Amino acid sequence: MTDSAFLDIRRATKSFGSAMVLDGVDLAVTPGEFVSLLGPSGCGKTTLLRIVAGLMAADTGRIVLDGEDISARPPHRRDVGVVFQNYALFPHLSVAENVAFGLKARGAPKDQIAPTVRRFLDLAQMAGFAERSVKALSGGQQQRVAVARALAVQPKLLLLDEPFSALDRKLREAMQIDLKRLLRELGTTAIFVTHDQDEALMMSDRVAVMNRGQIEQLDTPDAIYKRPATPFALEFVGLSTRIAGTALEASGPGEVAIATDFGRIRGQGRFTPGSPVLIGVRPERMAFGAQPDQNTIKARLTDIVFQGSRVQAHFAAPPGEPIQIESVGALPAGLAAGAETPISWPVADTLVYPRLKS
Ligand SMILES: Nc1ncnc2c1ncn2[C@@H]1O[C@H](COP(=O)(O)OP(=O)(O)O)[C@@H](O)[C@H]1O
Ligand SMILES: [Mg+2]
Repeated sequence: MTDSAFLDIRRATKSFGSAMVLDGVDLAVTPGEFVSLLGPSGCGKTTLLRIVAGLMAADTGRIVLDGEDISARPPHRRDVGVVFQNYALFPHLSVAENVAFGLKARGAPKDQIAPTVRRFLDLAQMAGFAERSVKALSGGQQQRVAVARALAVQPKLLLLDEPFSALDRKLREAMQIDLKRLLRELGTTAIFVTHDQDEALMMSDRVAVMNRGQIEQLDTPDAIYKRPATPFALEFVGLSTRIAGTALEASGPGEVAIATDFGRIRGQGRFTPGSPVLIGVRPERMAFGAQPDQNTIKARLTDIVFQGSRVQAHFAAPPGEPIQIESVGALPAGLAAGAETPISWPVADTLVYPRLKS
């Protein structure tokens, strides 16, 4: 929709039978940007990616790339590279031949093919593997080749569909950092599909949080975490304590008082008095002890979970969901499971959403 959009997906819809899988998706990506589609399995991420790649047609909507409507073009005329989870390399070709494939198909000048292959294998840190059979490579190495192959033709847009999800954690983290650096060096615009919030938060310039065929929030990782736009975004990304309540009167500019089972809590936003709301608080915003001018409640400690650099404290909160506090360093001395203790957090960190009455 914006003038600066390099990729502009407008009102994309897709149904399979009676199931609406994409429900009017708008997404504008700026040049060189790395945007993740983050959402649970089945929310429509792969379908959206396939529509952008031209591997599937949308029912309605338009795809504009670099000023051109590519909606009706076949995949090979879209200037879009794709990397899938299952490496999809040509097994009978060598590493170098795999990377050369797209260049040859596009009729690149013969004398440029070998240097381009070398350059992209080098960038993908696979320079020493050019003559190997791809069958002899590990999963991580195959994905490096798949990335090199997709980038060698220098597409306008690179699409990646859970490319690292089959790799173990250490390797995945190394690949994430390398890919991010590589795309930045090349200035390539990319859309990266993942159901892994850590991956999305760490790699992306912006994250599109998807739920049931819609983008619920498109924002920077920092904003997604600190200011989730919807209860789904709050719950899907990161930990949170959630407390149901009913809006009372405004308690200050942009602030609302809320009646809860823990007593009166103040939060951010404007709500009609009497309307049901959901309060959300990130665990690292909560602290032990009462604080004047903050929200303070009493709860009973049930578990302490050590996580290396951090400690998590869990509190029973009948009749609601458990409350979690995450703190760096030790918990207050003498605090043991079973103890009732005050917990406080700033009003500014109290997120409030409309709640659907169940
Ligand atoms: N070709 C297809 N035919 C019928 N249903 C499909 C097809 N492709 C995907 N779906 C359905 O569409 C929904 C979204 O799928 P998908 O886009 O693959 O989700 P995600 O990638 O987010 O896990 C799922 O319910 C899936 O079963
Ligand atoms: Mg998928």
